[in-house]
Amino acid sequence: MILKNDLILRAAKGESIERYPVWLMRQAGRILPEYRAVRNSLSGFKELVETPQFAAEVTIQPVDILGVDAAIIFSDILVVPEAMGLEYQMIEKRGPWFEKTIKSEADLKYAEFDFDIEDRLGYVLEAIKLTNKELDGRVPLIGFAGAPWTIFCYMVEGSGSKTFSEARKMLYTNPKLAHDLLSRITKVTIQYLKAQIQAGAHMIQVFDSWAGILGTEQYAEFSLRYLNEIANAINEVPLTLFSKGAITSVGAIAKLNCNTVGLDWNMDIQAIRAEIGDSRTLQGNLDPCALYSSHAEVADLTNKMLNSFQSKRHIVNLGHGVYPDVDPEKVKTFINTVKEYEIKY
Ligand code: CP3
Repeated sequence: MILKNDLILRAAKGESIERYPVWLMRQAGRILPEYRAVRNSLSGFKELVETPQFAAEVTIQPVDILGVDAAIIFSDILVVPEAMGLEYQMIEKRGPWFEKTIKSEADLKYAEFDFDIEDRLGYVLEAIKLTNKELDGRVPLIGFAGAPWTIFCYMVEGSGSKTFSEARKMLYTNPKLAHDLLSRITKVTIQYLKAQIQAGAHMIQVFDSWAGILGTEQYAEFSLRYLNEIANAINEVPLTLFSKGAITSVGAIAKLNCNTVGLDWNMDIQAIRAEIGDSRTLQGNLDPCALYSSHAEVADLTNKMLNSFQSKRHIVNLGHGVYPDVDPEKVKTFINTVKEYEIKY
């Protein structure tokens, strides 16, 4: 299918663009009343994720309503640990919860890595196919997965956490088991991402949401090494690596075989551009809280960010997912400001 708007793919590859492309992490979600209506008509989050027809519907909502330059398939990074053998529940207002966790070698029976992706994650692949059919080439569709380190955090800890101290503990008490589990997650993730591409994903983003809880050396040993494996395996479509909080590792991430590096709002665009040059596209990085300010301020802050760009190699986004109580009208102001901005490169 021919894409009518391939701006984001061109920006990722460093090709010429008429304006900067823009989308938001977590754009398909609770900020939209239309999302909440679909979600409330179902038994819960998991039914939405597991029913391709509904997943496709909410994936397309931000394209219609907000006017973003890409769709991201509605799913969750936690479908991977579930496929490996750890079922999760999404508890209202508290977040994900796993009954079983990985704490010892014996628990690796809940971390299977040799299974048919279509068999256990076919609902995501089906949702990708259906979404593309309904999008009819309006914008590209982004596929995604969690980074092995971030998935490891949930598989060991069993829930969200401020410190993930159980997960980090294993890096000291049983690094061999940690590497065993990380290798298994990496194998499954590569197969899963390739299946998403096969099903029609036009680009891929890997979310390392808990990158920031490791120091530079541990990040290199327990995350970068596996991101490197993924980056070397995924060559079919442009790849974005987003390691939230990995301030001291951005240079190393940019050296991996990826097209785009995602930046959170604490990362300095100009300093990073000076360090890595023009060989990678940068994605981000307005503070999600900036969208709580007035419309005029949202426009000013967005223009200030755009003025800091010194290259065409940018994809505009927030520095992390949009917060659920942000006014969608403020999101539109952010998006429209980007669309009206005259690119200098
Ligand atoms: O629009 C999109 O970006 C696509 C959909 C998407 C979701 N989760 C839907 C979702 C994506 C890309 C994710 C990724 C994800 N999931 C990450 C990585 C990105 C990040 O934010 O750092 C992580 C860490 C998760 C795990 C997760 N899922 C948590 C911790 C929670 C609970 C916290 C919360 O926001 O409620 C979720 C639930 C979740 N995933 C929701 C959505 C829309 C909210 C649940 C609901 O609608 O009731």
